Amino acid sequence: MIQFLLNRELRSEHALDPNLTVLEYLREHLKKPGTKEGCASGDCGACTVVVAELDGERLRYRSLNSCLTFVSSLHGKQLISVEDLKHKGQLHSVQQAMVDCHGSQCGFCTPGFVMSLFALQKNTDQPDSHKAHEALAGNLCRCTGYRPILAAAEQACCQQAPDQFDAAEAETIARLKAIAPTETGELNSGDKCCLVPLTVADLADLYGSHPEARLLAGGTDLALEVTQFHRTLPVMIYVGNVAEMKRIEHFDDRLEIGAATPLTDCYEALSDEYPDFGELLHRFASLQIRNQGTLGGNIGNASPIGDSPPLLIALGAQVVLRKGNDTRTLALDDYFIDYRITARQESEFIEKIIVPRAQAGRSFRAYKVSKRLDDDISAVCAAFNLRLEDGVVTDVRAAFGGMAATPKRARACEAALLGKVFNHATLEAACAALAEDFTPLSDFRASKEYRLLTAQNLLRKYFIEQHSPYIETRVTAYV
Ligand SMILES: Cc1cc2nc3c(=O)[nH]c(=O)nc-3n(C[C@H](O)[C@H](O)[C@H](O)COP(=O)(O)OP(=O)(O)OC[C@H]3O[C@@H](n4cnc5c(N)ncnc54)[C@H](O)[C@@H]3O)c2cc1C
Ligand code: FES
Ligand code: FES
Repeated sequence: MIQFLLNRELRSEHALDPNLTVLEYLREHLKKPGTKEGCASGDCGACTVVVAELDGERLRYRSLNSCLTFVSSLHGKQLISVEDLKHKGQLHSVQQAMVDCHGSQCGFCTPGFVMSLFALQKNTDQPDSHKAHEALAGNLCRCTGYRPILAAAEQACCQQAPDQFDAAEAETIARLKAIAPTETGELNSGDKCCLVPLTVADLADLYGSHPEARLLAGGTDLALEVTQFHRTLPVMIYVGNVAEMKRIEHFDDRLEIGAATPLTDCYEALSDEYPDFGELLHRFASLQIRNQGTLGGNIGNASPIGDSPPLLIALGAQVVLRKGNDTRTLALDDYFIDYRITARQESEFIEKIIVPRAQAGRSFRAYKVSKRLDDDISAVCAAFNLRLEDGVVTDVRAAFGGMAATPKRARACEAALLGKVFNHATLEAACAALAEDFTPLSDFRASKEYRLLTAQNLLRKYFIEQHSPYIETRVTAYV
């Protein structure tokens, strides 16, 4: 059984199809059609809902795409949908702001915008236009235009008064504590099931006895198999309630990041060490996707165009893999073997990711090039991590995404840099060596020629930034 609050109503579910998304659950099972389906692929934000969960003694509200969230992941949380905002006949202040600012025409996108604004209001004491843009970048509107919606964001955040959720916060916290899971939850229907373990040991046991299971983290990739490819996932194990895998631990020389930690939290912690992670955070999908997607999932899907792996490889990150009671630690670049093939064995999973802390004398930079600034996947992603002593490259790691079947180090390029004075001649030799490292593919994101030239130009850009520290181009490049 799984339990959660549907706003204030306690729901206990056990006989639901685990392939059911929260969007379908709301619309078809509960007959709450306020939440809309636009794309069913995480791109439009029409289906945005807010999920509140306990974070110590407070509630943390996150906007999510309900089209990519399976119901099993609600276990122990509070689900808030657009129907829950109106209270005692009065529109919520974010809804009123949309009315006052003329932020809606056909209205199809409006519930999604309203829920993103609600999450923004709950999470922001001092709103600014940057935060408003960030909160809304995953919501698309075909009719209204964004200026009135941004005006609504400003009104909603600047004139916020305590609402019914604030009034009920202590009670909600108490109720979530009362239903906090104490044992593995389960959702099943017929021969389909999703198991929801709470500890890493239980996860290891369950995965050992169900090697055929698909691991479900944020579901922003896995759920597409159901919503876009109409497959059925008969057995899933949800890792998002495993407490040990949602921690970020700081040690003197490293960060250890639980694989099920949401990307928003991972990138925030990493950006304290490496500011370019902070830059990339805003270029990674949308806030909804970053709130539900995890670092383990971004590595686990083994996509050649995933954004975190090139950065982590350039930093010398490692993955800790666990099977039963055994763990092994692998350099991340050894984890990726071929297209979607990894070193992970049957019943083995990524428990955590180890990232070295920043060291004096090293320069780390990362760049993402995509067709659109917001909510788009990389055509090319590059990360460079050099140590320079008296102008000479004494250590180098360069890694790329979008250039090969896996995220990959550019070994020939690195060899052309190592031990050399970092001048124009070295730079051009290293750029030429990139053609030895990679034979990229052409696809709808970019041609092979474009990819290779872009990779070389990103190295040139890095060079210019090293030699002209006042130039701050960072990862904001887009085509
Ligand atoms: C609209 C949209 C935009 C996107 N934009 C980007 C982008 O800009 N950059 C980018 O890199 N990606 C992007 N993605 C892809 C996706 O969001 C990320 O890869 C995300 O990090 C996946 O994490 P998840 O937790 O949702 O993974 P899930 O979907 O839950 O899982 C993905 C895969 O990893 C496996 N897995 C999960 N956890 C583990 C574990 N602990 N051990 C082993 N295997 C595991 C799962 O079994 C599954 O095969 C986008 C996706 C969408 C839908
Ligand atoms: S329906 Fe478009 S993001 Fe969910
Ligand atoms: S108001 Fe029509 S899509 Fe936004």
